Amino acid sequence: MSVTYFQSPSRIVSGPGAVAQAGPESARFGSRALIVTGRGSSRKSGALDAVAKSLEGAGVTPVVFDQVPSDPDMLTVENGAIIARKEGCDVIVALGGGSPMDAAKGISVVLGNNAPVGDFEFRQPERQGPPIIAIPTTAGTGSEITRISIITDTERKVKMVLQGPTLIPTVAILDPELTYSVPPDFTAATGMDALTHAVEAYLSSLATPLTDIHALAAIRLIAEALIPATLNGKNAEAREKMLLGQMEAGYAFGNASTCLVHSMSRPLGAHFGIPHGKANAMLLATVMEFNRPAAPERFARLAEALGENIEGLGSREAGMAAVNALQAIFEETGLPARLSDWGVSEKDLGRLAEDAHASGSTALNCRIPTVEQIRALYEAIL
Ligand SMILES: [Fe+2]
Repeated sequence: MSVTYFQSPSRIVSGPGAVAQAGPESARFGSRALIVTGRGSSRKSGALDAVAKSLEGAGVTPVVFDQVPSDPDMLTVENGAIIARKEGCDVIVALGGGSPMDAAKGISVVLGNNAPVGDFEFRQPERQGPPIIAIPTTAGTGSEITRISIITDTERKVKMVLQGPTLIPTVAILDPELTYSVPPDFTAATGMDALTHAVEAYLSSLATPLTDIHALAAIRLIAEALIPATLNGKNAEAREKMLLGQMEAGYAFGNASTCLVHSMSRPLGAHFGIPHGKANAMLLATVMEFNRPAAPERFARLAEALGENIEGLGSREAGMAAVNALQAIFEETGLPARLSDWGVSEKDLGRLAEDAHASGSTALNCRIPTVEQIRALYEAIL
């Protein structure tokens, strides 16, 4: 076994009402905080007010930057950095889903390294920027604990991946009450994304015993809670399990990787605008059926984590139970099941398959596919 690194935030504050700790946690780092959030939902849900109130209560002045679109671009990051500099912010509070987290990480990199965000597409930032306190309001990306940020270069139409240890938030605050107002469709899609992170991390060629522990914990939590949280957003137990589950999935894939499902979902987003979670959801069971023969023992463990009784089954049958369980969860979400629902037709499959094959995560899959095999997988869900 080789030496591996496992990276994580230095503090995790979790539980109902944890958002009230945003102030005391920020006060450890200074007296002015840039709140990085989206254009509406955190204001509408009351989360922004709750964070601002907590900051003020702890003697920290909130400076609100609520201009983060979904899929934040370079200009958003540079604008956020300009405001943070002008206002003398010592700490960044990222509030929302994956997009505000990505933007906050970009802003911290720009401030810490005194260089434009585009400089870090191919090299890791050397210097640590202002600390980030990450407060997710959706249960999906795990971004509050990962070292990755995706920033769009709108001119080149490229999604840049910034990464490195300096991007990991210093504090993650997980308050399930902030997720109660997420609608069913979004709960299902982000939850399926998190389930995909965990399953892919478990089957990744970069998996380690430590990432396995987190991946299997995530799969157990999400398999139990995804449908209850989708059907009843105020189910406190399900919401808490989902928030912890997606964080565990973040630990797993953030230190291992995602694989073929993510390679195949990215071109669906780029060419057809299919939201990330919904694209992964459609693909998950089909890609796992393709993967199954390559890792029979892992699939048996996967079945157990998904709550299947595999007593007396051989690893082949147990693996099939895992794939069936993933398909059953997906069907219960009620999310769209066919690519044709999104305007994809047979003539598009070749281009999609080429793009997916070229993606870096394909090489980390437990079964390395050819372009033709990827095309057949798309065709199976057309
Ligand atoms: Fe994902």
